Amino acid sequence: MKMTRRDILKAGATLSAAAITLPVRPVDLREPGSDDAAPAARERLLLDTGWRFHLGHADDPTRDFGYGTGDLFAKAGEFFGPSATDFDDGAWSRVDLPHDWAVDLPFINDPDEVGHGSKPLGRKYPDTSIGWYRRTFDIPATDSGRRISLEFDGVFRDCTAALNGHYLGRNLSGYAPFRYDVTDLVDYGGKNILVLRVDATEHEGWFYEGAGIYRHVWLVRTDALHVPQWGAVVTSEVGKAGATLTVRTEVTNDAESAASVRVRSTVLGPDGKRIATATGTAMRVEAGATREATQTLHVAAPRPWSLETPVLYRMVTETLAGTRVTDRTETSFGIRTMRFDPDHGFFLNGTRVELKGTCNHQDHAGVGSALPDRLQEYRIAKLKEMGSNAYRTSHNPPTPELLDACDRLGMLVLDETRMFSPEPEGLGQLERMIRRDRNHPCVFAWSIANEEWAVQGNDRGTRIATTVRDLAHRLDHTRPVTAAMDGGWGKGTSLALDVQGFNYQRASIDDFHRRFPRTPSMGSEVASAFATRGVYVTDKERGYISAYDVNRPSYGATAEEWWSYFAAREFLAGGFVWTGFDYRGEPSPYAWPCISSHFGILDTCGFPKDTFWYYQAWWSGHPVLHLFPHWDWAGQEGKEIEVWCHSNLDQVELFVNGASAGTRDVPRQGHVSWKVPYAAGAIEARGMQGGKVVLTDRRETTGPAASLRLVAWRTPLAADGEDTTVLRAEVVDSGGRVVPTADATVTFAVSGTGRLIGVGNGDPSSHESDRGPTRQAFNGLCCAIVQASKASGEILVNATAPGLGAAATIISTTPATPRPAAP
Ligand code: GAL
Repeated sequence: MKMTRRDILKAGATLSAAAITLPVRPVDLREPGSDDAAPAARERLLLDTGWRFHLGHADDPTRDFGYGTGDLFAKAGEFFGPSATDFDDGAWSRVDLPHDWAVDLPFINDPDEVGHGSKPLGRKYPDTSIGWYRRTFDIPATDSGRRISLEFDGVFRDCTAALNGHYLGRNLSGYAPFRYDVTDLVDYGGKNILVLRVDATEHEGWFYEGAGIYRHVWLVRTDALHVPQWGAVVTSEVGKAGATLTVRTEVTNDAESAASVRVRSTVLGPDGKRIATATGTAMRVEAGATREATQTLHVAAPRPWSLETPVLYRMVTETLAGTRVTDRTETSFGIRTMRFDPDHGFFLNGTRVELKGTCNHQDHAGVGSALPDRLQEYRIAKLKEMGSNAYRTSHNPPTPELLDACDRLGMLVLDETRMFSPEPEGLGQLERMIRRDRNHPCVFAWSIANEEWAVQGNDRGTRIATTVRDLAHRLDHTRPVTAAMDGGWGKGTSLALDVQGFNYQRASIDDFHRRFPRTPSMGSEVASAFATRGVYVTDKERGYISAYDVNRPSYGATAEEWWSYFAAREFLAGGFVWTGFDYRGEPSPYAWPCISSHFGILDTCGFPKDTFWYYQAWWSGHPVLHLFPHWDWAGQEGKEIEVWCHSNLDQVELFVNGASAGTRDVPRQGHVSWKVPYAAGAIEARGMQGGKVVLTDRRETTGPAASLRLVAWRTPLAADGEDTTVLRAEVVDSGGRVVPTADATVTFAVSGTGRLIGVGNGDPSSHESDRGPTRQAFNGLCCAIVQASKASGEILVNATAPGLGAAATIISTTPATPRPAAP
């Protein structure tokens, strides 16, 4: 049997400080004495709480609320059994969004599902692959005459929706946002019943993807004369005299007669103050039509959005019928220039920036794909701390809040679509991604494909890529189109690209550059190195691989191998490591009982592996010295242990129990190492620059585990029902040192004004529940994810472990206005 690389991956056979941003209140732009309507023309209400959930059945209608029996599509208003007003959902569980039901499913030993995270989702698992969601909400009688719509940021996947028994539609991709205008279907002054049947039987990728309504849902109310979803676009040209903004605004008239409308665009600076306003001339919009207005505004001394200072501006868009403000939306944007150069790589605001990137999937410890918004910030902040400046949303459009976090924290994004196709489904996914994301200053390019083996090197690939690229260019002329290819460069898909992406295969890059000297290029995917956090001796039985930077698949590269190659080539714009964080699924080089990947530089909880400091040394620009492994090798006395140091200093001297083991010059883009016989005590690295010791790092032999320590990522939290923190539980000895091999079973108890939403430990072979409250420490650490309620006060987090007593910490929560929510 011929094995593809995917088969090999599946079988595991190959081995060769975060910014706090609170919701921005709209600014009242009315002139004193004006007769403008109050700026509440649009309401966007979160529809995340108060849902009911029940598993259905893919094969058996009697266990699927009758779905598939009766005359489903025959008559309006009779769709779905659970749509009935008298349907009793009392036996359904109460859930809030974001929600990923796959997190609650057990792990299963099925070779077909290993890549996807070993969860019972698929044709073989009809009783756990369908999820039903039900939510009732009120629409006041006073809403009559307004437009009401429901916006879904992402549902995994194949979602069929109905409102009040009326079929709304079906959305296939779990990564594409979708929306229904339900104005004609709601009951004004009454209860409305929204029902979704979500079918996660099919996978879209080859990795863990979750299941359910794992992103936000919104109820949006507007005037009949309004800006349609994603209908305002701001682009900027920066010159000597400042920035010229071009604002294109679509206006939809859903009223029964034509309207005369003016668009008023107001730029607010980073401080929220008004900088410039343009009011367009009146434009006639026929009933049922959408028209676009274009305006130009000037910002005299723009502050550029950069990685160090990610300055954000806001565009307030208003539509006016006479003096009545019929709609008002806000768009966050940045002013910056970007360009690719075939000889010198990528430039941001005129300065060459090497893309020090990571590819990532979207799941996280404890919560699966259903991340509270704050966790996006946690993850981006960790990557920034490592010195990373770019993020590839492999292999799908991200949750919108990920891009918000990248905008705010200063992280470039390569935004990738899921389906590579010139047909409506594929183009629709791409169009929604670009329309949704094109105002984000963080997004620097669109990726239209990843390793499309059937077509990447042939003519069909050229045709598909040309159609897809042309649509991308039409929707956004400011960003280049690229694709992540692992073959076929210079033909096929390649011929349609603005920037060539290379996945692995370094040997082909120089040759391509010689043959296509005018095409800019970058490493769209590099490394795929394996490491398990805190493991220094590979243990195949348990599915752990040593964290020295030496393990990689035949096609991949160690951190040092790929980065040395890229750092030496100015024409390359940099690259994206596979991956920043570990993720569920693809446990290569192992298979079951391993259930999550070893590719991450950080584990699924965000705890760094040692290679984190390799990247920090060569990416961050500040002095770094990191010594490993730990020094707890009882029973190995006298045996040689390999000691490594990641550093960017000139030299490092190692001391073992006070005696020098030698000084090493640190090679550029490299590391230093020694082999020393083990004796309990301490190893110490002294890092020198200009002949002086500037940093030291020590590993000491620890005593037995004695107690627990809890460290909160951030406190206080906003009491808005959404804010979240991560608590690191450390198993420590009597001297307060983390015991690097400790595996105590920790039980978390959360009380007060917050709740426990998940636990994790980064162990790729752990089959414990992600919901907790219990989790075993893995190599000394585990974590609890805690979310604030809407009541301000204190969250008490208590952690206990047999024989180690209790550790407690208090997280205060401060009064905050929750986001406006649907009733
Ligand atoms: C790549 C692929 C990634 C991941 C990786 C593992 O080919 O694009 O999604 O599977 O291999 O090394």
